[in-house]
Amino acid sequence: MAIKTVGVLGCGLMGSGIAQVCAGAGYRTIVREVDEAVLKKGIARIEKFLSDGVARGKVTADAKTSTLGNLTGTTTIEDLKDCDLVIEAIVESVEAKTDTFAALDAIVGDSTIYCSNTSSLCITELAAKTKRPDRFAGLHFFNPVPLMKLVEVIRALTTSDETYQAVFAFAQSLGKEPITAPDKPGFIVNRLLVPYLLDAIRSYEHGLGTVEDIDKGMKLGTGYPMGPFTLLDFVGLDTTYYIANIMFDEYREPAYAPPPLLKRMVLAGRLGRKSGQGFYKYDK
Ligand code: CAA
Ligand code: NAD
Repeated sequence: MAIKTVGVLGCGLMGSGIAQVCAGAGYRTIVREVDEAVLKKGIARIEKFLSDGVARGKVTADAKTSTLGNLTGTTTIEDLKDCDLVIEAIVESVEAKTDTFAALDAIVGDSTIYCSNTSSLCITELAAKTKRPDRFAGLHFFNPVPLMKLVEVIRALTTSDETYQAVFAFAQSLGKEPITAPDKPGFIVNRLLVPYLLDAIRSYEHGLGTVEDIDKGMKLGTGYPMGPFTLLDFVGLDTTYYIANIMFDEYREPAYAPPPLLKRMVLAGRLGRKSGQGFYKYDK
């Protein structure tokens, strides 16, 4: 299973980072978005990250050029036909993901491996709805992808040993530190992180403190790099809301239930950094 060409579905917050690290590791990388405007925004995010990296002395000018040279953006799913591995990073919806994988099944070759970057959906369910349940795994990156070392590798009940090993080795080839996580919503990290973030919102609703003070407390009192509200805005409140619903649906425990304020902020379009406002306001 030699992986040379990688497809990435979605060029949002995560897809753009995933495409960047794949291209940066020398893979020919094709990233697909639904329309030109969103694609352009995603590619611009990659260019900016690389330029900032050069300005900070963390990325060489050559590495920037070769990363961008390995990268192609498209809005046509057929352009992924020669990919050896496809990583899906679209919206956290089982319907959207299964529809996209079904479209891909008609295009790519039999040996192509599929990975999903889902935060919480059942990998076995996604795999079972494709024509290749043995060549399917979860590959869960962390935000911001180019800076976070961890990747969770998740086996569906049906994932073959060969696929699991190829995906694990692929994660290592990106310079990441993979761990194996179970096919249960939230895997390892979100299983612990998401209830904490939801609890921060519930505590705020109950008057524990201001957003700023709760963030300052957790940052300076426990050494977290970001307080919970800064992190919620960073992850995206829409994505957090979808994850919470999926986790609550599976575990039926109050700790995973989305707090009323989270739902209302999503309904109001306050999605965090990506929309310009969440718990904080941002310059667009
Ligand atoms: N290119 C290359 N390197 C860069 C860079 C760039 N464009 N921008 C920053 N860096 C480097 C910096 O030079 C610095 O390197 P050193 O440590 O060697 O000095 C490092 O990255 C950190 O950068 P900064 O000092 O500018 O920023 P920071 O210290 O504020 O860290 C952060 C930024 C890494 C995002 C940090 O705030 C952090 O870890 N936050 C928490 C993020 C987190 O928890 N992510 C997980 C979210 S949950 C998830 O993803 C799963 C899910 O399913 C929802
Ligand atoms: P996002 O909203 O920033 O990006 C999703 C992108 O997918 C959008 O740009 C959208 O246009 C695009 N899209 C939708 N349908 C598509 C399709 N059929 N083909 C191609 N593109 C399509 O969301 P995100 O934060 O990047 O999250 C993407 C996935 O990654 C979700 O499953 C999420 O749970 C997971 N994830 C998110 C984070 C995070 O911190 N935000 C961390 C790890 C994993």
